[in-house]
Amino acid sequence: MKLFVLGATGKTGGVLVAQAIARGHSVTTFGRSPFAGADKAKVLSISGNPMNEAELADALPGHDAVLSVLGTRGLGATSVLVDSSRATIAAMRKAGVRRLVILSSALLDSHIGLVNRIVSRTILRHFSSDQRAMEQLVTASDLDWTVLRPARMTGSAPDGQSTSVLYDPPSEAGMQITKEEVARVMLDTVENQRHLRELVHVRGARR
Ligand SMILES: NC(=O)c1ccc[n+]([C@@H]2O[C@H](COP(=O)([O-])OP(=O)(O)OC[C@H]3O[C@@H](n4cnc5c(N)ncnc54)[C@H](OP(=O)(O)O)[C@@H]3O)[C@@H](O)[C@H]2O)c1
Repeated sequence: MKLFVLGATGKTGGVLVAQAIARGHSVTTFGRSPFAGADKAKVLSISGNPMNEAELADALPGHDAVLSVLGTRGLGATSVLVDSSRATIAAMRKAGVRRLVILSSALLDSHIGLVNRIVSRTILRHFSSDQRAMEQLVTASDLDWTVLRPARMTGSAPDGQSTSVLYDPPSEAGMQITKEEVARVMLDTVENQRHLRELVHVRGARR
């Protein structure tokens, strides 16, 4: 498939691009910084603003799907996710690209335990409200969207641990997932046309 990745220069983005290349996909990265990961020679890296509809619409034609793992750096007020999703939705409609798989977060769930709920409403409140606004735009769109709400993302699983995931809402006891697992779920979702117009919860199975 021809995949268009937003947020490729981030922590999850690097893992996602590596897995996509390993699966034989053709990958275009689009962002304000050029993609500099290990696979940089194997991707088409386009410099552009993910909040700019016209720049996105120029770059999108010919792609099969958009995978967005954009995130916000820092804890202050932000509208990166909602602004980029607004531009992306409009640009995808213009370019005739219908499939969007986008990352949100389990922070928006109610059954994540008291401590996580407090964190979501205090330290991470700007982050959560941007994610909520992004979800509202995406789920109201007429695209073939999937919104993934992963649990807290960690580094790689230690050797010997299962890497299966559960498509369950998170609970206090199961609030983690690795970036590798999240990337795998995103690619499985887009390759197999799964979870069309669904909001999907994922968490690591071993915890
Ligand atoms: N961390 C967790 O535990 C967790 C859990 C669940 C869900 N998530 C979600 O996963 C997503 C990705 O997380 P991550 O840790 O991989 O993110 P990250 O490493 O912070 O990467 C963020 C990406 O977004 C881009 N970006 C940020 N601000 C931008 C701006 N103003 N304009 C253009 N591009 C911008 C960055 O580009 P530059 O390289 O140019 O800065 C980078 O590619 C986030 O949306 C987060 O909500 C995270």
